[in-house]
Formats: sequence, C-alpha cells, structure tokens
Amino acid sequence: MNAKALSRDSGSRSTEAVPAGRLVCRDVSKTFVRKGRPLLAIDNASLTVEPGEFVALVGPSGCGKSTLLRLIDGLSRVDGGEIEVGGKRVTRPGPDRAFVFQSDSLLPWRSVEANVAVGLELRRVPRREARAEVARLLEMVGLSDFAERYPHELSGGMRQRVNMIRALAVDPAVLLMDEPFSALDAQTRELMQAEVTRLWLASRKTVLFVTHSIEEAVFLADRVLVMSSRPGRIKKEFPISLPRPREVGIQRTPEFSEIARAIWEELRADVLRSFAIETNNEQMLAELNAEIDREAEGSGDRG
Ligand SMILES: Nc1ncnc2c1ncn2[C@@H]1O[C@H](COP(=O)(O)OP(=O)(O)O)[C@@H](O)[C@H]1O
Ligand SMILES: [Mg+2]
Repeated sequence: MNAKALSRDSGSRSTEAVPAGRLVCRDVSKTFVRKGRPLLAIDNASLTVEPGEFVALVGPSGCGKSTLLRLIDGLSRVDGGEIEVGGKRVTRPGPDRAFVFQSDSLLPWRSVEANVAVGLELRRVPRREARAEVARLLEMVGLSDFAERYPHELSGGMRQRVNMIRALAVDPAVLLMDEPFSALDAQTRELMQAEVTRLWLASRKTVLFVTHSIEEAVFLADRVLVMSSRPGRIKKEFPISLPRPREVGIQRTPEFSEIARAIWEELRADVLRSFAIETNNEQMLAELNAEIDREAEGSGDRG
C-alpha cells in the first residue's frame, strides 16, 4: 500500500490514529532561485511537536524560520522531505493550521469582531454560533468593549491580541506564530507573552513559535529548537523544565539565565555566520568557518 492510500485509510484504523495536533517535519528541504541561481534555504530540517506542546524556534536572521513556517502552513511546497499534521501530509493551507504573522494582518475596513469572525465566515459557521464564539474570545483577551472599533483605533498590543484570537477562532489543531511580538515595545511585549501563555494554557493548541529573542523562547516554551545559519537545519533542542505558570520575574533566576546562556552559546557562531552570509563578507565567513573547524577538531568525535 502506498503512502497516500495509508493516510486516506488512517481514519478507520483507530490503533494507529495520529492525534490531530501532532506536527512532524521529516528531512524538509527548500530551494529558492535567486538571481538565476539556486539558493538552498532549508536543508533536511526535521522536528516533531507533540499535541498541546509549545515549541519555540530560534535561529539567526535569514536561516529559514519563516520559510519553514510557510511550508508547514502549506503556503509554499517542500522540495524534499515531508510535513505531516495529524498524520496527514500537508500540501496546501487547511483549517487544521492557523498562522499568526509578525505584523498584524487585520482588515482595516472591518470592525474588531468582524475581523475575528473572518475564518468562521469562510467556514460557513452559522451566524449566531459565530457571534457567540467571537464574544467568548474577545472576553478572554479583555477586548469585549472594543468589539465594534476598527483596527486603527487600537494600540499595537490590542491589534496583536485580535490577531491571535482570530487565529484561534477557527479552532486549528496547530498554531504557527512568526515573531508575533517583535514590532511591539518591551512592556507590551511582556504583557503579550503572558497573554499568549494564558491563551495556550486555556486552549492547549500545539504551538510552533518563531522568535529571535532567546529570552522570549525560554519564557514561553516547553522546548526550544535552535536552527543553524542558512541552509537551515534544526541543530539542537533544549527542553525547558522551568515550572509553570511562569511569572516575568523568572527571567532573573539563575536557572533561567543558565539555559538562556546555553542557547546563546549554541547560536553565537551561526548568528555571526549568518551576518557574514547576508552581508557577503567573505573574509569574515572564512574566519568563522576556520573557527568552526578548529572547534570540531578540538571536541574530538562527539558527533
Ligand atoms: N520567496 C523567496 N525567494 C527567494 N529567496 C527567498 C524567498 N523567501 C526567502 N528567501 C531566502 O531564504 C532565506 C531564508 O529566509 P527566511 O525564511 O525569511 O529567514 P528567517 O525567517 O529565518 O529570517 C533567506 O536567505 C531569504 O532571502
Ligand atoms: Mg522570518
């Protein structure tokens, strides 16, 4: 039986049913063409996110984080490997996945409640039911009084809250978030981190959260995955066993600092390499590669 037939059958074989929220990327590769030349953006990236797990993905700029999320969402096709959500192969966007972008993508001509209702309308959820769900979500993020306002009347933090509940409204199994708070000021960002944790604890979605902030990743996640510079691979993972619920103050504890430092150590060379690649600095790249070779020799045959 081929893979296609297997996945079509899987609904009836309860012993092998894969939970809807499990996300698997297996040896995923993606190549772009830039200036007529192929550019390998992602090279055999593999990861699994278990149902209800909150996983953060960090990596240097340009390493392929957004590309990977777009592949998982089905906005772009893999060139190699495969992506499965709930045991089903991803080929296009679907209601089992929702994407929260860095800049909120609210429709300016729609009120807050009408924005949150977009996905429900697309799925032809009966009006009354949709209204009740929208009201529930607005209440959850303290925006009930803003239901009839328009996006331009909201602060950045409020807009991003609306953005998040709009994604949750369609009840996806997997929530993909691409640096959702990076445009916010530091205080708002802290509030939003608490907010996203609260929403996650209440909904228990599977979350894959991309951020360039190590602190944000450690604060939010059950596990932090580190991506290498381009071509991106998942090169290391760090389980975060800090107790929940986590208060902001946890960021000043030695345990937190220790894990954040370890992640930074893992990332440092790749961030520099990435900078050298993006700025076409060949000398810097050569020096970094030499340093990596020296380290590899020094560490023996660990891996
Ligand atoms: N549509 C595209 N066409 C050509 N190159 C792309 C495209 N999308 C992304 N890239 C390139 O792929 C690499 C990874 O990009 P991206 O996934 O946006 O990185 P990140 O989100 O980690 O900063 C970058 O070098 C970027 O320039
Ligand atoms: Mg990106």
